[in-house]
Amino acid sequence: MNKLTSALCCVTLSTLSLSAQTNTLRGAFAGKFSIGAAVNVTQVHSPSPAMEKLIRTQFDCLVAENCMKGEVISPAEGQWNFRDADRLVELCQKNKQDCYGHCLVWHSQPPTWFFHHSDGTRWTRDEAIHYMRNHIQNVVGRYKGRIKAWDVVNEALNDNGTLRLTPWLEIIGEDYFEIAFKAAHAADPEAQLFYNDFSMHLPAKRDAAIQLVKRLRAKGCRVDGVGMQSHVSFDTDLVEYEKTIQALADAGCKVMITELDLSVLPWPEGNQGANIDANFAYQESLNPFKNGISKDMQRKQDAFYERLFDIYLRHADAITRVNFWGVSDADSWKNDWPMPGRTDYPLAFDRKLQPKPFVKALIKKAKMN
Ligand code: G3I
Repeated sequence: MNKLTSALCCVTLSTLSLSAQTNTLRGAFAGKFSIGAAVNVTQVHSPSPAMEKLIRTQFDCLVAENCMKGEVISPAEGQWNFRDADRLVELCQKNKQDCYGHCLVWHSQPPTWFFHHSDGTRWTRDEAIHYMRNHIQNVVGRYKGRIKAWDVVNEALNDNGTLRLTPWLEIIGEDYFEIAFKAAHAADPEAQLFYNDFSMHLPAKRDAAIQLVKRLRAKGCRVDGVGMQSHVSFDTDLVEYEKTIQALADAGCKVMITELDLSVLPWPEGNQGANIDANFAYQESLNPFKNGISKDMQRKQDAFYERLFDIYLRHADAITRVNFWGVSDADSWKNDWPMPGRTDYPLAFDRKLQPKPFVKALIKKAKMN
């Protein structure tokens, strides 16, 4: 057996062993739905050995938390910064993990040069269409065949189901959705294409997303499904949440749980979903676990995550991926949103990279289903 064959056998065997390790999330959920995490640039380029092993063995797919966003990849007109995204794609290929693309068209955190010229004049409709198509063609085209699915348009609906008045909608009009999805499909005909949003348990938002998918499909767009971000809280209505999964499945949509996390901290002023524009000054009284999560609160979180995964397993025929929005609690955006400087515990692995108690329960559940 020559060296190449031998190496390929080693990689294959190690990959098979990863999926066969049923004491990991990746192994336990193999065959049900992909289980993944969002990774940051430190985890992409220079993870600690313990973090590298956790990411490789626990997840069968990864997504960039930030490094595939326009603000990173396209810092100035005609300038492209693919360094971090390239490394992530290479990492996924090495570890036989699927790589997912997030996100192509979003109103938040756009490249600073988007939507206006250097003299301050706003893009015309034709210019906005040109720049959006150019962005999508360059990004999706670069990773053709290596990204399993793209979040093509992100967070374009308001909670009441109306279209969010983003610069894309203002400048181009409602056909920006169709232009975006058709540009993504042209750049990589094999990639699955999704609409992605938060608070999808809200009935009005659920209905609007389904109508949006139907309109786009009627216009000849490939829309494989909807990403339910799932930045959930203890007050998230899980009956409505499950209704959304069922309604999407009934509409012929694949469902991805794209940004799963469960904050244990109190909201400053009611549930803000994941509307990143909401920001509140630090209040000590709203940071109750800065020295560690209480046993009662951990038990509460464990129970809620188990309820979530009971729902996912009931709908495994429609759900193709469940993705945590981060690897360990220390990495989570929720430590600084909606209030900077807090200590949250929203993810599956703690600050010492140890699995939360619910992880063991989820693995047991997966084996029993
Ligand atoms: O990389 C720069 C660094 O060079 C600079 O020193 C630092 C301070 O300005 O900023 C760093 O960039 C930050 C980036 O995260 C990486 O840490 C951006 O300012 C910050 O805005 C960005 O926040 C991300 C946010 O999206 C906005 O893009 C969060 O990490 C990320 O978790 C969050 O994720 C979003 C999803 O993409 C869409 N759904 C909601 C979700 C939560 O808001």
